[in-house]
Parts: sequence; structure tokens; C-alpha cells
Amino acid sequence: MRVVVGDDLGGFIEDSEADYYEQIVRRHFRGEGCIVDAGCFIGASTKALIRGLEARNQQHEPPEPPIIAIDRFTASDHYVVEFLAGIGADIRFGESFLPIFLRNLGRDTPRVEVRAGELVQVGRVDRAIELAVIDLAKTPALNGFVLQRWLPQMVPGHSLIIHQDFYSPTQPWIAHSMAGLLDYVSLEHDKVGESAVFRLERPIPANVLREATFGWDRRDALPCLDRMIEFVGTRVAAPLRLMRALAFHSLGDNAKARSLLEEELAQSTPPPDQKWEKWLSAAVVAVMPEVFQFNAVLGRLYWRHGAQRLGHA
Ligand SMILES: C[S@@+](CC[C@H](N)C(=O)[O-])C[C@H]1O[C@@H](n2cnc3c(N)ncnc32)[C@H](O)[C@@H]1O
Repeated sequence: MRVVVGDDLGGFIEDSEADYYEQIVRRHFRGEGCIVDAGCFIGASTKALIRGLEARNQQHEPPEPPIIAIDRFTASDHYVVEFLAGIGADIRFGESFLPIFLRNLGRDTPRVEVRAGELVQVGRVDRAIELAVIDLAKTPALNGFVLQRWLPQMVPGHSLIIHQDFYSPTQPWIAHSMAGLLDYVSLEHDKVGESAVFRLERPIPANVLREATFGWDRRDALPCLDRMIEFVGTRVAAPLRLMRALAFHSLGDNAKARSLLEEELAQSTPPPDQKWEKWLSAAVVAVMPEVFQFNAVLGRLYWRHGAQRLGHA
């Protein structure tokens, strides 16, 4: 494996998210438990968390590494392979990117307990969790594992869970499951990049947790999404509204899905989400395939997305 990389390797999180992680560790982490960085990839989030630890300026760090970093560390998604190619790393599908993660951490490696493997195989955590940063709830089952295994390890009134994919319309089970836990969590921060941040306020009874996390079902997605849209507020809810339109579509009510998407298309000011044009155009193609005949609509969305990628928007 040949790796040619520069100093700042980047990652999938936005700068605002990296800054937020640093701040939250500095302000919030007591050192009584651990921080879980789940889906750390090549370490952008891990390094932000480490910067937060450094800023705390604690004389004594706990004997165990404060951060547990979990990833399968193999390039098993096309977008991962593409990202690695983009930073000059010659890693093919199925190969490991663990050496890049370790090199990226450098002298900070002792602060991190590295768990390389599938979440369900390496994800058991016995310590108290003060902060969990989640970027691998990519299926309802993985999301269920995260919430079922880790929420009971969290400290009521203190611990935070950052869902990095909360606003991604392709992962509606995250908003769905958190909607079932609203009596037990509060919203610490409604939106940083694509992340939403929740605080565990009180212990969650096992049956409530089980129902919320393993109850992903398109039929009750709609009331859950409605509850969550109201909870986070209209300012940040546009991606959740897309999830709602897509839920109507998959339940067979395409007329409703179309009218919801038309409302979004009619907005004169697009929401601030960096990926909004991409998300909206993907939803339009799924729900209104005939839009291909309306080149103006698709072209406008495509161009706005293209312009964004070129840094013109
Ligand atoms: C979008 S990337 C994470 C980006 C990262 N948080 C950053 O700061 O750049 C998602 C990561 O989750 C990992 N992942 C996805 N499913 C997983 C699973 N079932 N077990 C372990 N890791 C998984 C992938 O290998 C990938 O590195």
C-alpha cells in the first residue's frame, strides 16, 4: 500500500462540527468516563476531540485512554474509496486505512483506544460514556446497537450524544428513534453541520429504549418525524421535512410526497445545509422521475449543487 498524504487530511465532518467537538470536550468532559468516537474514519473527529482534551489542560488524565475510536478501518464503501483517492492514498476497495488513521494521530495515539472491526463485534463499552459521537448508525440495526448498548452507559443529567447523520435524509431511523426518547433526552444543540446533540436527562426504561430503537417502521415514521420537526423547530427542520416527503412516497402516497417537495422547491431561500441541493435533487428524482422532462428544474438544482462544489455558492 502506498500512501502519499499531506498534513491536513480532512474527513467528512464540516469545520463547524470539528470546532464544536473541540469546544464540547473542553467544556463538558470531566474525565470520569470516556468519549466514544464511533465511525472515526481517518481521524478528523478524533483529532478534534483530542484538541478539546488538550485545551482542558488537566494535569492528570485517567489511566485508560479517554477516547475509544471505533471503525472497521477498511475501505468498504465507494465514497470512502473515493475520498481516500482524493487525498492521494492508494487504497483499493476492501483494503485497510488504519495506517492512515494511526499516522494522522501521531504522538496522540496513546490517548485513543483503537477498536478495529465491525461495530457489533468491537462495540461493547463497559465504562461510563460522557460523550458519544456517532457516525456509523448507517442502518436501523447499527443505530439500534448504538442506542441499546451505549445509552445505559451514559450519566443522566450529563452525558451527550452527537448524531452526525441526524439530518441526512437517507437515515430517517435516527430521527425516528430519538423521537421515541424525547421524554428522556433534551436538545443540547439543534444543529451543527449535519449533527444534532442530545443530552440524556434521566435513565431510560429498557422497554422504552427497545421500542424506540428497534421499532423502525415506515408506518409510524410519520408521527415520529412530525414530533421531531416540532421539537427541533422550523429553523433547522428542512432535511427532516424531506424525510417526511420520502416517507409518504415509500408508503405509496406519492401525491402528498410531490406536493411536499414542490413546497420545498418553491422556497426562495434554500436552507443552510451544505448538502441541501444534493438531498433535494435526489428526493425529486425519486419521487418525481418525470421531472427529467422539466430540464429547467433539474438543471437549476444540478447547477446549484455543482456551483456549490466549485465553491461559487
Ligand atoms: C462517514 S465515515 C465517518 C467520517 C468521520 N466521522 C470523519 O470525521 O471524517 C463513516 C465511517 O463509519 C465506518 N463504519 C460504517 N459502518 C460500520 C460498522 N458496521 N462497523 C464499524 N465501522 C463502520 C466506515 O468505515 C467509515 O469510516
